[in-house]
Amino acid sequence: MDRLLKGTALVKPKGAATNGNSNGHSNGHSNGHPNGHSNGHANGATNGAAPERRSNRDRRARRRGADALKVGVIGCGYWGPHLIRNFSEIPGAELVAVADQRPDRLDYVRVRHPGVKRFTHHSDLLEADVDAVVIATPIHTHHAVARDALLAGKHVMVEKPLTSSVEQALDLIGLAEARGTVLMAAHTFLYNPAVRELCRMVHSKHLGRIHYIDSARLNLGLFQRRVNVMWDLAPHDISILIQLLAELPATVSSHGASCVQPGVHDVAYLNLEFESGILAQIHVSWLDPAKVRRITVVGDKRMAVYNDVSLGEKIRVYDKGVEHPPVTDSFGEFQLSYRYGDVTIPYIEWQEPLRLECEHFLHCARTGERPLSDATQGLAVVAVLEAADKSLADGGKPAAVVLPWQQAVTARLREIRLAAADAAVISSAASAPVTAAF
Ligand SMILES: NC(=O)c1ccc[n+]([C@@H]2O[C@H](COP(=O)([O-])OP(=O)(O)OC[C@H]3O[C@@H](n4cnc5c(N)ncnc54)[C@H](O)[C@@H]3O)[C@@H](O)[C@H]2O)c1
Repeated sequence: MDRLLKGTALVKPKGAATNGNSNGHSNGHSNGHPNGHSNGHANGATNGAAPERRSNRDRRARRRGADALKVGVIGCGYWGPHLIRNFSEIPGAELVAVADQRPDRLDYVRVRHPGVKRFTHHSDLLEADVDAVVIATPIHTHHAVARDALLAGKHVMVEKPLTSSVEQALDLIGLAEARGTVLMAAHTFLYNPAVRELCRMVHSKHLGRIHYIDSARLNLGLFQRRVNVMWDLAPHDISILIQLLAELPATVSSHGASCVQPGVHDVAYLNLEFESGILAQIHVSWLDPAKVRRITVVGDKRMAVYNDVSLGEKIRVYDKGVEHPPVTDSFGEFQLSYRYGDVTIPYIEWQEPLRLECEHFLHCARTGERPLSDATQGLAVVAVLEAADKSLADGGKPAAVVLPWQQAVTARLREIRLAAADAAVISSAASAPVTAAF
């Protein structure tokens, strides 16, 4: 029960700051993605402030006290700056070092965070006085860098996906257990207040029995060279689906196309069949004119649409459905009746998901608690991606999701489901969140 309640605590973590916009978020991206494309670098919210103001902030951070956890960030490309910003602002964390192989990225750190140590090699950062490290390097490097960090005795948060293979994930999990350190998969969307609300709706049966789920994550870019679009974008959707349904997919079949770079799929459709028989589809693309981040959950009582790019209406709940009328011996018995009810928009108190994720990592590192997105969930996401790759290579033939420790992972998911259902009872009693009809 301990971590169940920790899961619910994510709704309103102590000390979490809001971004001043209770409806949505300043840049329209729930997990802090900047709008920009192409270089993807240095375009985060950190750019605007003058270096002088930054150095004041660094001085403040240094005054935070001896009990602050010393954090190092490895990788300061496109995503790293968002992590650096958060760890330099969170009370109880002291950003002490950043490593990146590129001198221009270290210059970026020097200008904005003059008090922070800079290293070219991650192994040098690991020898510095840091308690916890966050890894935001390209996916193919995650295993090697995380392995070094765990061997150095650090608490580790690895960007999604945890590793490039199940074998690598198992290796890291074994190491973390042997060292007694926290290993967390950075599944940022699980810390998104709208996703938490959606989980509570599903787990408390507000939507009824789930028929199917449809997920789409589309945009123009950012193209990757070493991984296909599934490994880049689908970890978000897979982690959300596993959390929503609190079970693992049994099989995955996937189709896709390499439109721009030969051999690197830039559009893919994944069909997941869960153990309970529920179907889910994930559509991911780097080659779409519209930015879409949408999950539709169809239940037998209600249907919900989570639209991540909407600023003020992240979730709409449709009281719609189809019902069989009572059986008669007339023609009517072949008819279905359609139910059209209210559309409601739950109030969601907005907090930056990445901030919540970073705070949760620090909390787990400090207390030894198991993270909401622990390494076994990282492993599950990687197992689904491996199966999806296999199916893609096999012309779409369904591939089994092969997951060692399946029972342990499933038990953990059940714990989380119970916690979220508890939270639903609490939150609906307190604030009746699903009532704003229009
Ligand atoms: N949570 C999210 O929403 C989200 C969003 C974007 C990216 N990501 C993840 O973040 C990670 C990084 O993605 P990115 O787009 O920033 O990549 P990137 O290529 O833009 O940046 C990676 C940086 O890591 C540096 N690097 C590589 N190996 C290193 C090493 N051994 N030591 C030190 N520095 C090293 C590179 O020089 C580069 O600057 C990926 O795992 C990606 O999936 C997560």
